[in-house]
Amino acid sequence: MKVTFLGHACFLLEDSGKSILTDPYLTGNPQAAARPGEVNADYILVSHAHQDHLGDALEIAKRSGATIISTAEVARMCAEEGASTHAMHIGGKHDFDFGFVRITPAFHGAGVPGGHACGFIFSLGGRNVYFAGDTGIFGDMELLGRLEPLDLALLPIGDNYTMGPSDAAVAVGMLRPKVAVPMHYSTWPLIKADPLEWKKRVESEYPSTEVMVVNPGQSIEI
Ligand code: NI
Ligand code: MN
Repeated sequence: MKVTFLGHACFLLEDSGKSILTDPYLTGNPQAAARPGEVNADYILVSHAHQDHLGDALEIAKRSGATIISTAEVARMCAEEGASTHAMHIGGKHDFDFGFVRITPAFHGAGVPGGHACGFIFSLGGRNVYFAGDTGIFGDMELLGRLEPLDLALLPIGDNYTMGPSDAAVAVGMLRPKVAVPMHYSTWPLIKADPLEWKKRVESEYPSTEVMVVNPGQSIEI
């Protein structure tokens, strides 16, 4: 699986001829490693409707024909704007042509009235990925790692709006992914964090997890 970080919480994951884009906030994103017109995907996962997550999802979906997968409230809003959508909700799992998607809880605002923020566990090319979205730490991360053994976890470490480095390290201990990649940090001074410091801490506390720090525009293979 090729995983490209486009900045903030936006990743492009590609395997077996299928591509999944997460929270495509590119316009106005100081870290953006691509313009919305350059990104194509089969599916776009949107964790909630804050601008730094919904971002350019509508534009990319309408241009590339991608299907937006999100909670019912966010999916409805995107459908009303003319995008192709698949609505799900927390605890639900569905099989797509690339693998499954499970919607996970996230402790955060939805950015849309009556909604919930979420995270995702999905499989692509037979590997399981947890994209936490924006969330504080919660004890049921232990359960998520038990329900779906994780090859990769994409976790916010920027603090203030989400988990900070200390809580995200404890989250790794509960999730037990093979690889963890930090996100949602240093986009602005308020969420500045040191990913190499985090890597050192996590790998010393949880040696079975490898932390891969990916700079915006860089790709890794897992
Ligand atoms: Ni948010
Ligand atoms: Mn955010």
